[in-house]
Amino acid sequence: MQKLLVTGGAGFIGSNFVRYVLDYTNNHVTVLDKLTYAGNLASLEGLPEGRFAFVMADIADAMVVDRLVAECDVVVHYAAESHNDNSLHDPRPFLDTNIVGTYTLIEAARKHSKRFHHISTDEVYGDLELDDPARFTEQTPYNPSSPYSSTKAGSDLLVRAWVRSFGLQATISNCSNNYGPYQHVEKFIPRQITNVIDGIRPKLYGKGENVRDWIHANDHSSAVLTIIEKGIIGETYLIGADGERNNRDVVELILEHMGQPREAYDHVVDRPGHDLRYAIDSTKLRDELGWEPQFSNFNAGIEDTIAWYRDHENWWRPQKAQTEAKYTEQGQ
Ligand code: NAD
Ligand code: DAU
Repeated sequence: MQKLLVTGGAGFIGSNFVRYVLDYTNNHVTVLDKLTYAGNLASLEGLPEGRFAFVMADIADAMVVDRLVAECDVVVHYAAESHNDNSLHDPRPFLDTNIVGTYTLIEAARKHSKRFHHISTDEVYGDLELDDPARFTEQTPYNPSSPYSSTKAGSDLLVRAWVRSFGLQATISNCSNNYGPYQHVEKFIPRQITNVIDGIRPKLYGKGENVRDWIHANDHSSAVLTIIEKGIIGETYLIGADGERNNRDVVELILEHMGQPREAYDHVVDRPGHDLRYAIDSTKLRDELGWEPQFSNFNAGIEDTIAWYRDHENWWRPQKAQTEAKYTEQGQ
């Protein structure tokens, strides 16, 4: 039994990871989360008492972080400001949390000699052309485009430097776009599903040709657990499930599954600096650590996700109106 400290565990991927760990291991989990607009305690309801604890605090609060890191065996660091559109309108929280927050955590992990796993994104590599046969690998040079992705790149580099200079016992993973339950309605797939439920037409940025490499959140969780258990200290692992789709195809699939005409969507103003395409080559993780995704049927995954949002209106309804009001202000 290990004691995991999971930062950002009240967010989308963190809460899915917490549930996954409690279901498939006998580990204890403490969540450290500030409960920003993106954190939701309702995402952690019903977890087994005795194996789960919650602490509301900022990862940049060195005193709280020092105490919690000292008490755990492994830090799994998900907490971040995560939404590109927000970073284009107000970058400051991205610097505070993604850079200073990560710095605060790795200093504590160094001091207490704790195993550290850093969760990052494929966006640190920039983007690819639509017809480029190449995909991102662990050797791809960093080339982030947005305030969000540049702060994530900065946090990765801090972790790498702490490994090399101070012997931090860390691994890093860079994953592609996640989907599944408990994702905030600001993000592409839940925004469109909940729009259709509300009788609003889905909104596609620009022409809708941008490609994302979709992976189910449970596959991300199993990959992270594999890296914590078998990963080599100092190494980076890319996580992806061969799920490339352009945004137009995703919207049409959602509309079809929800009984609407496939063309019942609107084009809206594009995101500035919008990355064209992400694509992950996860050969290293598969060959060296033996990981395989289990939820590769995107069609079925979207159907399940639609069903989840239909069944959990109480979970997302409180965020919907203000999220859409913000998008309307931005012309999106
Ligand atoms: P999210 O926005 O849904 O959740 C982030 C969580 O972090 C929230 O619970 C929030 O309250 C918490 N948080 C934010 N600032 C904090 C702070 N200063 N102190 C403590 N807690 C704080 O994000 P997500 O989509 O679940 O992403 C989680 C991680 O995975 C991030 O590091 C992100 O970069 C990475 N990632 C996300 C994706 C994706 O598709 N969403 C893909 C690859 C990597
Ligand atoms: O690649 C991993 C990244 O995926 C993570 O690091 C980020 O935390 C996560 O938010 C996600 O970033 P994206 O910017 O790709 O995700 P988002 O859901 O915001 O948008 C997905 C695509 O859909 C993108 O091309 C923009 C487009 N989009 C988005 C919204 C919200 C639309 O066309 N319409 C929309 O309404």
